[in-house]
This record gives sequence, structure tokens and C-alpha cells, in this order.
Amino acid sequence: GNGLFTYDPGFVSTAACESKITYIDGANGILLHRGYPIEQLAEKSDYLEVCYLLLNGELPTAEQKEKFVNTISNHTMVHEQLSQFFKGFRRDAHPMAIMCGVVGALSAFYHDSLDINDPHHREVCAYRLIAKMPTLAAMCYKYSIGQPFMYPQNNLSYGENFLRMMFGTPCADYEVNPVLARAMDRIFILHADHEQNASTSTVRLAGSSGANPFACIAAGIAALWGPAHGGANEAVLNMLDEIGDAENIPEFIEKAKDPNDPFRLMGFGHRVYRNFDPRAKVMKKTCDEVLGLLGIENDPQLQIAKQLEQIALEDEYFVKRKLYPNVDFYSGIILKAIGIPTNMFTVIFALSRTIGWISHWNEFHSSPNKIGRPRQLYTGEQQRDYPA
Ligand code: SDX
Repeated sequence: GNGLFTYDPGFVSTAACESKITYIDGANGILLHRGYPIEQLAEKSDYLEVCYLLLNGELPTAEQKEKFVNTISNHTMVHEQLSQFFKGFRRDAHPMAIMCGVVGALSAFYHDSLDINDPHHREVCAYRLIAKMPTLAAMCYKYSIGQPFMYPQNNLSYGENFLRMMFGTPCADYEVNPVLARAMDRIFILHADHEQNASTSTVRLAGSSGANPFACIAAGIAALWGPAHGGANEAVLNMLDEIGDAENIPEFIEKAKDPNDPFRLMGFGHRVYRNFDPRAKVMKKTCDEVLGLLGIENDPQLQIAKQLEQIALEDEYFVKRKLYPNVDFYSGIILKAIGIPTNMFTVIFALSRTIGWISHWNEFHSSPNKIGRPRQLYTGEQQRDYPA
């Protein structure tokens, strides 16, 4: 305690929560999903297999995977009425604002017959969300550019389907670039889950009241939007734009170190990692691969990002505070190379993280549970009387 207050043992028990899904060792830069290192999953697995793993706890057999992929493919269409929701937004509405609204609206389409205490009902919620998030995300983009919504194609892979819904039009066949589809799938894997981060904790807390799971996911989307969290990937590209040229890097490093300047080095630092974020390492490798295959390895923003990283990693301020690049530092450069606009970056993060959110929601409801009630340390006034 701090002399004023004494911690009661219950404080820690209600503050911490138990989970079997993801393990992070921040000091050593380790991230495991159901025991498997993220580096191995990124290299050898694919996003839908990682979804199955996060949700069920084990990698699927070939037969289980085929059944799971078919189930997801056959849930990718959204109710036709949902397209009406987009029409209420201005064309320049931020896609994350639209996603908060439209994903929340899904709760109106699946609620009457939903029994969250039935494991099969919970499983179907997960399938619907994994399947429909790419469709809704692509609809946000199409709406913003005034193009017609594209329907999913069940014969395409998850990544291919998303790219075709984003960049295809009814006027011509869309040729999916396998390099971009693989890069998209890799990005989905790297953002899939991350233990009790702000947005996942939001989903678990909302879920603990028994709220509709689609509404809980909408709450997670809202929490992720902040620039200190999932919004950082969009903020990194805006920062690289603002830096503009490598010669301006020292000025921005100084700004980031100035306690009186609110500017932070976007894509750097983490509440848990006091070492390299293992996802950032894979993301940097993927960035080099993808931009190399696209013949744009000399992309000026990639060059600035690499120099910024190098200077920051050698600067005493960042070294002393153990600040390293996080998952958001390189992801935006790959997304931009794929052709995705900056204001859609956090939507991609939300799409990818939906499996993490719904796996934690499902885990919470899979065992006896109580409504969440974070404890507080009261530091306000002692009791006093109203003036006579
Ligand atoms: C994500 O929780 C998760 O797991 C999140 C996430 C996930 O997958 O869900 O990993 C995804 O949100 C990654 C983080 C993305 N955010 C950013 O990149 C935004 C920039 N980063 C900072 O805002 C910051 O690093 C946070 C928000 C990520 C962490 O903030 P903290 O907890 O305040 O950081 P800290 O306690 O480690 O800070 C220690 C010191 C402080 O200075 P002092 O008070 O000691 O003088 O380092 C400073 C901070 O001011 N600092 C930075 C900095 N990050 C921390 N200074 C400059 N630039 C930065 N980026």
C-alpha cells in the first residue's frame, strides 16, 4: 500500500484474469498462441488455421481444417439490409466509425435465437464474425470511393476474397496477385490476438455482463481505434509523411523525447514488450519481401522508417526506456504497398483481431463466470458534511 490505502488481496484477483489462449513474455519478446510461437505460425500456417487454433486450442486435422474453411466461406455474405446502414454515413466518414456502427448493428440480426450459454451458438457467432468482417471492411472502402459493393466468392481463399472485394469491380475479372494475398494473410496472422490488450479487455468486460457478442466486438473496435492502440498503424504512416525526408529524423526524435511535447514516436514502445515485439520482426521481414517482389524496395517511406528505427535503437532515451518497434511500425508500409489507403489500416487490424476478441469472449463464457468489476484505488476526498 502507499500508506494511505492498503491493498486487499481481492484487488489482484479481480484485476487479473486467467486465459489459456496467448502467452507474452515482454522481457524476452516471446509471443505464443496456444503454445505455438508467432514466428512459426506466420511462416508455416495460414490465418484461418490460426483462427481454428485460437478458438479451439489445437491445430486442426486436414479434415477439420477443410470443414472449417468451408463453413467460413459459406458465411461470408452479410444480410442485404446491412448495406442500408452504410447509406447513412457521409462518404468521407472514417471507416472505423462505420465499422463501430455496422458491426454493432449485426447484434440486431442475430439476437433472438442466440443463447450464449450454448457452446454451439457461441461457435456460430465466431464463424459469422470471422467470415463477415472482411466483407464489411471491404464495404467500408467501396462506400468511401463510391464504387459498388463486391460480393464474396466462396472459391477464393480468405486473403484473395478480401483483396477482390476491396479492389475488384463488377466490370472486369479481378486477377489476385498471390504475393499480395500471402502478405495479407500474414498480416492477418500477426494481428490475430495479443492477450489482455485494451481492446480484448474491453470485449471480455462487455461480454461479462452477458451482452450480445456482436455488440461486444463493436466495443472492441471502438477501443482499438485509439492512436495509442490499433490506431497507431495509421499514425505511423501519417508520421512518416510528416517527417517527409530522412534529414528531418533528428528533429522528430528530439520531439519524441521532449516530456513537454505530446508527440510520440508512433509504432514504438509497448505496455508489455521491453524488447523487440516478435511480430515487428516478422513484419519487417515481410515488408522487405513484399516490397522487393513488387520492385519498390526503395520506397522512400520504407527507407525513412528503417533509418528512424536505426537512430532510435541507438538513442539513449529509447534504450534506457526499452522502447522498440511494435507490431504497428512496419505494417502500414506493407498495407500501403498492397494498395490499402491509410484510413483503412486500423480496419484491417480490427478484422484480424476479431478472432482474438471472440476467442477470449468464448473462453470467458466457457466456464462459470462473474461480471467483471475492475477495482479502484480511491484517491478523492474523505467523507465531509454539506455546509449548514
Ligand atoms: C498496440 O497492449 C497490446 O498488446 C497492444 C497491441 C496489441 O496487439 O493489442 O500490441 C497493439 O497497441 C501496440 C502499441 C501501438 N501504439 C503506438 O505505437 C503508439 C506509440 N506508443 C506509445 O504511445 C506507448 O509506447 C504505448 C502507449 C504503446 C505504451 O505507453 P506507456 O505504457 O506509457 O509506455 P511506457 O510506460 O513503456 O513508457 C515508458 C516511457 C515514458 O517516458 P517517461 O515517463 O519514463 O519519461 O517511455 C516513453 C513514455 O513517455 N514512451 C515514449 C514512447 N512510448 C513510451 N516516448 C516516445 N515515443 C514513444 N513511442
